Amino acid sequence: MTNNLKEKNIVLCVCGGIAAYKSAALLRLLIKAEAKVRVIMTQNAKAFVGPLTFEALSGQPVCTSLFDDREEGAIRHIEWANQADAVVIAPATANVIGKLANGIADDALTTFMLAVTCPKILCPSMNTIMYENRAMQRNLDILEADGYKLLAPGEGELACGTYGAGRLPEPADIADRLAHTLSPKDFKGKQILITAGPTLEPLDPVRFISNHSSGKMGYAIAGAGEYRGAEVILISGPTALPSPAGVRKIDVKTAREMADAVFEHMDKAHIIIKVAAVADYRPHETAVQKIKKNTDDMIVSMKKNIDILKEAGQRKKNQILVGFAAETQDLDKNAQKKLREKNLDMIAGNLVGDPSSGFGTDTNKVTLYFSDGSKEELQLMEKKSVADILLDRILKMVAENG
Ligand code: PMT
Repeated sequence: MTNNLKEKNIVLCVCGGIAAYKSAALLRLLIKAEAKVRVIMTQNAKAFVGPLTFEALSGQPVCTSLFDDREEGAIRHIEWANQADAVVIAPATANVIGKLANGIADDALTTFMLAVTCPKILCPSMNTIMYENRAMQRNLDILEADGYKLLAPGEGELACGTYGAGRLPEPADIADRLAHTLSPKDFKGKQILITAGPTLEPLDPVRFISNHSSGKMGYAIAGAGEYRGAEVILISGPTALPSPAGVRKIDVKTAREMADAVFEHMDKAHIIIKVAAVADYRPHETAVQKIKKNTDDMIVSMKKNIDILKEAGQRKKNQILVGFAAETQDLDKNAQKKLREKNLDMIAGNLVGDPSSGFGTDTNKVTLYFSDGSKEELQLMEKKSVADILLDRILKMVAENG
């Protein structure tokens, strides 16, 4: 996936809260992603973490005052504001939020923020009662209306010993939202429906028939779509993956539940991508009680599930429909047959069973087959990169379709 943080000028603003130590971890992640990061700290922040920590990690002088003499401090806030591609305030304290909401500029950080025009992410972090205080919520509403992107604090045990909302989100999640902010939004206005993961077909209350799909491929496409500005609905079979941020996830278990969810939501979607490994058959009957091992052999009678993709191919209007084909042999022949029979615009074929491709892996080796008969063989790459290329090709088809 494109590294949207690479070479970007980020300004990290650190306020005086107990979570200031997490800002150092955030800074490390941003530097690892090859962003150029400058840090501004309030005087209170210095009581929690020393500027030297941020200076060492960023390799740049840290700004703590409008008037320090290490650079031309008096105009530095304007220069940094002009050069910034994005600003993140983490942690943002009640005091600084109050000042920003009211246009007060009485230190380096708040003065800098008045001069900033690039995207701004605000990460409030404080005690739950302070966070829920009406004045605080009012100030957050003002800042949101002023164009700040607010990252809601997480819930959990807080440093003050209470439990509730107020925790600074994890540094990886803040970095993710920053990268999202900087990503080009070429799918803005488009709704994408994606299915992912396996389906589970129950035999009895404790057993089921399923497959090895981890959901990684489908979740990567959902995440990439959301990054690129699409409204994404992810219909997912059971997986161990966290929900991609900003994506509406609908959890299902069986093929029939997945079919119901797809047909309920497909009409509004501009693009439908079926990555899920749907069980082709389900047991004729699901035992009400756990099946006992009374016999040496056991025969399970199976019934064919609906082919959701094929049905979607018959129902589709002016929509782009994309399938995946998981094959163990004859990829070209089998994938092209599915493309035709299911009335698809594109199918992504992958050979499964390879240790670096297919089920459960972080990488995939995919060949794209198009309805005009052409094909494109991709190298082995991260599933996140496959996701972006797939979306690039879909965008081209959307443009061609008008
Ligand atoms: O989840 P991961 O661990 O990351 O693995 C990714 C993957 C290997 C599951 C993925 O890349 C993939 O190949 N998904 C399709 C798996 C599959 O079910 O392939 P198929 O050839 O059996 O089905 C072809 C297409 O028809 C698929 O889009 C499938 O979603 C759809 N289908 C199949 C059967 C059915 N009853 N209904 C369907 O909609």
